Amino acid sequence: MREKIMNIKNEALAQIMGAAGKEELERIRQDYLGRRGKVNQILKNMASLNEEEKREMGRLVNEAKVAMVQALEREGKQAGAKGEGWLDVTWPGKKPTMGRLHPISQAIEEIARIFERLGFYRVRYPEVDWDWYVFESLNMPPGHPARDEWETFFIEAPKNARLGEMVLSTHTSNGQVREMERARKPPIRMLNIAKCYRRQQDVTHTAMFHQFEGLVIDKGINIQHLKGTLDYFARKFYGAGAKSRIRPFMFKFTEPSFEVDFSCTNCGGRGCRFCKSGWHEVGGAGMVHPNVLRAGGVDPERYTGFAFGWGVERVYTLKPGLKLDDIRLLYGNNLEFLGQF
Ligand code: FA5
Repeated sequence: MREKIMNIKNEALAQIMGAAGKEELERIRQDYLGRRGKVNQILKNMASLNEEEKREMGRLVNEAKVAMVQALEREGKQAGAKGEGWLDVTWPGKKPTMGRLHPISQAIEEIARIFERLGFYRVRYPEVDWDWYVFESLNMPPGHPARDEWETFFIEAPKNARLGEMVLSTHTSNGQVREMERARKPPIRMLNIAKCYRRQQDVTHTAMFHQFEGLVIDKGINIQHLKGTLDYFARKFYGAGAKSRIRPFMFKFTEPSFEVDFSCTNCGGRGCRFCKSGWHEVGGAGMVHPNVLRAGGVDPERYTGFAFGWGVERVYTLKPGLKLDDIRLLYGNNLEFLGQF
């Protein structure tokens, strides 16, 4: 009897392993474990055995049953995965994970498109640049206290006799004289969008950030052209009712100089908890200083120009409904957060 039990068990396991699908597994289950199955037949035949033999055979039959049930379960699961049901066209599709542009890249595209409509062309200049382009040509000679505003990272590199030391560019204004040199002659309508670096870190400042710099040089350019450009950008970027405002300020490379504000998109400029005054500052602007024109080889007697430079992160976080009060989140690499944009 012992042999018979072993044979039934092996036979059942072999059949289970070779079964073609769930239907066949069910048939095997019935053949061996069903009410009239082979295991029950054996149990019936045990009536003639003595107590000790009954206990021993009972244990063997039980082991065989457990092995069969486990094999049936295992094969049943695999048949489910690869057998019938693997292609069920009524199931909803699985959405693949899709990459998308970082919100700041999206903002850069939008900014560039707005200025393109006004005839600006986009350029990019080095992020690791000479002191001459970042400071000195912009009317900030070595040792001038105005430089302290730009908390600069210096690069360990040999000094150049004419261009000075190397720094991580602190603003996109380093493109001003570079563009005058490239264009050789006005008219110039440059839009320089690039990364900038400063030793700063808080809810509104990151060590790496982006600026976009406009530079327009031609005959007869005046403050009205600047103001018209600011208003145009405000309307296109924030919506029809948005306005710009300029306030007197001091930059060494523009004269006169201004700070530029845009009306708050949350309250429409009336003043709210988010803006306090109805306005948000986004950056600087002004009429290009004659010394800067000269440094770029442009005659200030014949040409005038305006320039502005604003933070991409700054203008982006002021968009309607986007009350992002810590810009560091933009560079936190949290895909769940970035996936919202
Ligand atoms: C400048 O950088 C001038 N070059 C702007 C300019 C250009 C003036 C042309 C005149 C003519 P300022 O340091 O204020 O100015 O920076 C301009 C803007 O850049 C700031 O208002 C802010 O929006 C952004 N910005 C500056 N530092 C950071 C930072 N660490 N993190 C994020 N954004 C910053």
